[in-house]
Amino acid sequence: MKDYAIAAIPADGIGPEVINAGVEVLHALAERQGNMRFSVHTFEWGSDYYKSHGVMMPEDGLEQLKAFDAIYFGAVGAPDVPDHITLWGLRLPICQGFDQYANVRPTKILPGIQSPLRKAVPGTLDWVIVRENSEGEYSGNGGRAHRGLPEEVGTEVAIFTRTGVTRIMRYAFRLAQTRPRKLLTVVTKSNAQRHGMVMWDEIAAEVAREFPDVRWDKMLVDAMTVRMTLHPESLDTIVATNLHADILSDLAGALAGSLGVAPTANIDPERRFPSMFEPIHGSAFDITGKGIANPVASFWTAAQMLEHLGEVDAAARLMSAVEAVCAQGIMTPDVGGTANTREVTQAVIRAIREG
Ligand code: NAI
Ligand code: MG
Repeated sequence: MKDYAIAAIPADGIGPEVINAGVEVLHALAERQGNMRFSVHTFEWGSDYYKSHGVMMPEDGLEQLKAFDAIYFGAVGAPDVPDHITLWGLRLPICQGFDQYANVRPTKILPGIQSPLRKAVPGTLDWVIVRENSEGEYSGNGGRAHRGLPEEVGTEVAIFTRTGVTRIMRYAFRLAQTRPRKLLTVVTKSNAQRHGMVMWDEIAAEVAREFPDVRWDKMLVDAMTVRMTLHPESLDTIVATNLHADILSDLAGALAGSLGVAPTANIDPERRFPSMFEPIHGSAFDITGKGIANPVASFWTAAQMLEHLGEVDAAARLMSAVEAVCAQGIMTPDVGGTANTREVTQAVIRAIREG
């Protein structure tokens, strides 16, 4: 019997709704598998914690998380707290403090879900976006001077290091190598950004030589939006910088039907620290408390967590249950259904028990 210690951080908005659903599903899955157990500890960190303590998580937060096998994260963001405080106070310190440099975002059209692309069916769009998660445009490097004066200046400096770029390229090529098509697209903007991005391209070409069996090509990020929309079937694994992949993966989520189904994994490939698994979406103020949040992204990221823990069978069982439930049309309103979070969760649990 394997016992996995999971740190749940549901945080804000619909975060608690979808993470509670995910935890319920994980327990049902463990029961069905018979050889594993999840010990889930829930941390009440986030914007409410901030309002009473002045910080999003305690100072020794990372220390408390270190002992866990994985982190299961909801969303941060509250209407009455500035977004840069919530993001830099909780999610980014975990990603950066635990050097979760590979952000892995699978996207595909699930059965029963309608893509806004007229010709797309399940299979047309089956991608994994690998996002550099430790530096680039979100390195936090920059500053403000002469605040409030007419000559005020703000800088936001993108940082690209040889170490950072090499390790994300290796991760992406290795991942592409494990997928049937062995196809990688490197996203860049080296026409306009002629320093860091040119180095990015050079390192991609160097790393490519280590993977002769992987076909790869290069796309400028603006042209990439066109290719994703018009020729989704021409893409498989994609690697991009922190900013580029942030934007492209929202597009990917939308093309696959809804942000509510898009998962993401923040991985420390060297396994020095726990990795963190979360839905891509945020707090979704407009539907918080209504009980209609789509839990599929949270289930899918739980499957990513299981894969990372080496529980490939359990991950596959969870994903087939999710796909079966979508195919039956038991879906939340964001993807055209009439079911609520509870009903989708119960249906997935049933499918796990019967599958
Ligand atoms: P959002 O992802 O919260 O919502 C965008 C739209 O998608 C909304 O209409 C929402 O109802 C819908 N949506 C999102 N997830 C859904 C789900 N599971 N089921 C059904 N519909 C869903 O993005 P928005 O509105 O830009 O940001 C709201 C707050 O969340 C902000 O404070 C923002 O900073 C934060 N945020 C946090 C993220 C994180 O914690 N990783 C990621 C994105 C935003
Ligand atoms: Mg984003």
